[in-house]
Formats: sequence, C-alpha cells, structure tokens
Amino acid sequence: MKASENKAKLSFTNGSPDVELPIYHGTMGPDVIDIRKLYGQTGMFTYDPGFLSTASCESAITYIDGDKGELLYRGYPIEQLAQKCDYLDTCFLLLYGELPDAQQRDKFHKLVNSHTMVNEQMQFFLRGFRRDAHPMAVLTGLVGGMSAFYHESTDIHNPRHRDVAAIQLIAKMPTLVAMAYKYGVGEPYVYPNNALSYSGNFLRMMFGTPCEEYKVNPVLEKALDRIFILHADHEQNASTSTVRLCGSSGTNPFAAIAAGVACLWGPSHGGANEACLNMLEEIQAMGGIAKVGEFMEKVKDKNSGVKLMGFGHRVYKNYDPRAKLMQETCNEVLQELGLEKDPLFALAKALEKIALEDDYFVQRKLYPNVDFYSGIVQRAIGIPVKLFTGLFALARTVGWIAQLNEMIGDPEYKIGRPRQLFVGPARRNIP
Ligand code: SDX
Repeated sequence: MKASENKAKLSFTNGSPDVELPIYHGTMGPDVIDIRKLYGQTGMFTYDPGFLSTASCESAITYIDGDKGELLYRGYPIEQLAQKCDYLDTCFLLLYGELPDAQQRDKFHKLVNSHTMVNEQMQFFLRGFRRDAHPMAVLTGLVGGMSAFYHESTDIHNPRHRDVAAIQLIAKMPTLVAMAYKYGVGEPYVYPNNALSYSGNFLRMMFGTPCEEYKVNPVLEKALDRIFILHADHEQNASTSTVRLCGSSGTNPFAAIAAGVACLWGPSHGGANEACLNMLEEIQAMGGIAKVGEFMEKVKDKNSGVKLMGFGHRVYKNYDPRAKLMQETCNEVLQELGLEKDPLFALAKALEKIALEDDYFVQRKLYPNVDFYSGIVQRAIGIPVKLFTGLFALARTVGWIAQLNEMIGDPEYKIGRPRQLFVGPARRNIP
C-alpha cells in the first residue's frame, strides 16, 4: 500500500488535541485511514459492529467493486476465468498470484490428484454421527479432524508446510464432502479415481457405486467446475474473516478452515443457497408463480421476518456477477437434462423480475447474489439441498487458504483481538 499526501485530521469539540492519521491508497477501491495509533493517542476506540466501514487487512487476492458488480481474482474478471479456465487453474492463481503455464498446470493438477485420498481412519469419524445429521455438521467435524491426521506435518510458519496443507485441503475436500453425503444415504464410500478431472472425480464419488461403471456427464462436469470457480474466493466475507482471525492465533490450517466451514453454514452467508431453494419450494407448494405477489408482500413487511433468500449483499449494490454466470450455467444444465421447464427455475426468474422492478428492492439496491440460482442448478445435478453449502465450502477452501497464507506470510501480522464498548454493570461487590 502507498501513503497518500492526504491525511485525516480528527478534532474534538471538547477541546482535546487534534489527531492526524495517515491515509493509504491501494491499487483500486477506497483509501483507508490508519487508526492503529488512535487508542494510544486518544484513549478511544473506533466503533464498527459488523465492520461496515472497516478494512481488517491489506490483501492482493480478490477485489470486488460493489457498485459496478465487478469481481476480480488476482486482477482477472470472474467472467473470463469462468469461460477460459478450470477450477484448479483458479486455485493456482489464488494461491500463487499468476495463472499456471502449461508445465505448472500439469504439475499442479497431478499434485492435487495425488492427494485426494483421506486417512482410512477418517471413515470411523463419521460413524459417531446419526445418519440424518446435517452434512455441514459432519463436514465441520471432518475438516477439524484433519488436524488429528496431518497436524504434525504442519508448522504454519513454514512456507513449505503451508503449501503442503493447502494442497491437502484442496485435494481432500471433495472426498470428505462425498463421504458426508454417502454416510447420510447409507451407501458405501467411493474412493477417488485420479484419472478423472477434479469435478469429474467429485461427481463419481457422489453418485458412483461399486456395482457399476460411473460415466461422468461432461456438461455436468463443466457446470460443477464453473460453480466451484464462482465460489472460490470473495474478499473478507464472514467465513474468510473467521479463518483469518482463527488462524491468527497460530493454530493449524485444518482447525482454521474448520472454523470457516462452521461460519459459512449460516443462512445469511453460505447457507443461503439451501435456504433459497427451500423458499422456492415453499412458494411452489403455496401455488407457485400465482403466489409470488403474496410472498413479496411478506418480504416487504418488516414484522414478517421473511427475507428473499439469495437476494441482497453487503458489498454488491448492483447485480452479483456470479449470479449472472450461475443463471447461464443453470440454463445449460437444465437443457442438458431436459428440465428446461423446471418450475423452480421459472419461479426464480419470475421472482427476480418482480424484485428488480419493485421499489422496496430498487431503493435498497437488492439484487440476486451467488446463492439465488446455485441451488436450482445443484438440485438439477442431483445434489441434495442439505449438501449445497457443503459444495460452497469445498469451493471456498482455496480462498480461505490463500487468505490465511497471505496473512501468516506477512511478517507484520498479529493475533486479532478487537476491543469493545462496555455497557455492562460498573464494578460492584458481592453483598
Ligand atoms: C453470501 O460477504 C460475502 O461476500 C458473502 C458471499 C461470499 O461469496 O462469501 O457473497 C456469500 O453470503 C451471499 C449472501 C447470501 N445471503 C442471503 O442471500 C441471505 C439474504 N440476504 C440478506 O440476509 C442480506 O442481504 C445480507 C446478509 C446478504 C446482507 O445484509 P446487510 O449488508 O447487513 O444489509 P442489511 O441486512 O442491513 O439490509 C439492508 C436493507 C434492510 O432493510 P432496511 O432496514 O434498510 O429497511 O435491505 C433489507 C434489510 O431488511 N434486506 C432484505 C434482504 N437483504 C437485505 N430484505 C429482504 N430480503 C433480503 N434478502
């Protein structure tokens, strides 16, 4: 970052001395006011619950322009990555800062593919769960459990170890998500087949069985790969900030990523795709498109507590570019599967059309986000609703690791420890 000529001057109406604070420029986006010395100079904290005006770090990985609806991974627009690259190219880019050349690509694909198996003991972890446990509960346990198998090989402050852990997590997440699914449906686990692509391998581990040859459908394989690209990283969102804060204590990467999985599960974050599909099914059951108006009235009634899931975003105040690409992917998959008439897809498009013309949404700049169409395409592929967020976690693992490694790799980083505005009881004695 670069110091600006401009400075911030803080003055107080109670006559306290003025404070001058440095301002820094990034490559793009808002400048920042460096408040690190504020407490020392004024004895006061800033106050920003939800971090609406707070930059928690500097990063070179992902940039979002919420007004333009623009998303860049290491400077490349998401639209170009979705068209011209595959998910593992995107992983290489997010981890190392550049797209791989042919030789690097081949080596990276082989490296990831040779780490897809998990320790055979991990299958006994699953047995402790009820068969109907939510897959995100299982996945949180499995990812945290990786610390029990691979932690010894991970000194988070050793760049080589960070690299190894990154490959292990990227390679094993599909296997773990598929195992969580198979455990829930009572089918045997399918071991990875490293002759397949990353997404093809995942499809086979999910839907293959030992009884017959599983043929990967190339349209679904490509659609899934694109879904993974769209979910790979997204600046300092709630789960990435969780991974950074958790990792800042120096804990091992598996524990930090498990914290990210747990945070992503929330319906306001990665759990929105599951919540959005459940919402669509609920409206469908109420009467479908004919009932959209009634549903929208509920959404606009503050007391109903009903939100249009898959809509709105803290940063995007324009159309989420991922939602556009997800809608295209949805079209392709539904056509391939002869489901063009999927009533939920028609319902989602009707909801979007109404919302984009309705003052309530227009005034609040609420647009479809990545979760609005992702549930429909995953459901068409055969992914159960409860596993949608598991796929989001699978895809986001590379973003979490890239952000964690960027933080740990910065010699200036410190353990995160926010302060508070205390409003509880003053000191008192037990009578
Ligand atoms: C993801 O941060 C990221 O980058 C996340 C993510 C990623 O890739 O990591 O992009 C993934 O989490 C996408 C978001 C998925 N969540 C949902 O789709 C859940 C529904 N959306 C909302 O809960 C909400 O839009 C949030 C949580 C996404 C954003 O909330 P903010 O920024 O805190 O905004 P807000 O709640 O203050 O909303 C502003 C206004 C409020 O109304 P007023 O008080 O001004 O009258 O808009 C309203 C809100 O009530 N509003 C909605 C709404 N979202 C916001 N009203 C109805 N339906 C919605 N979906």
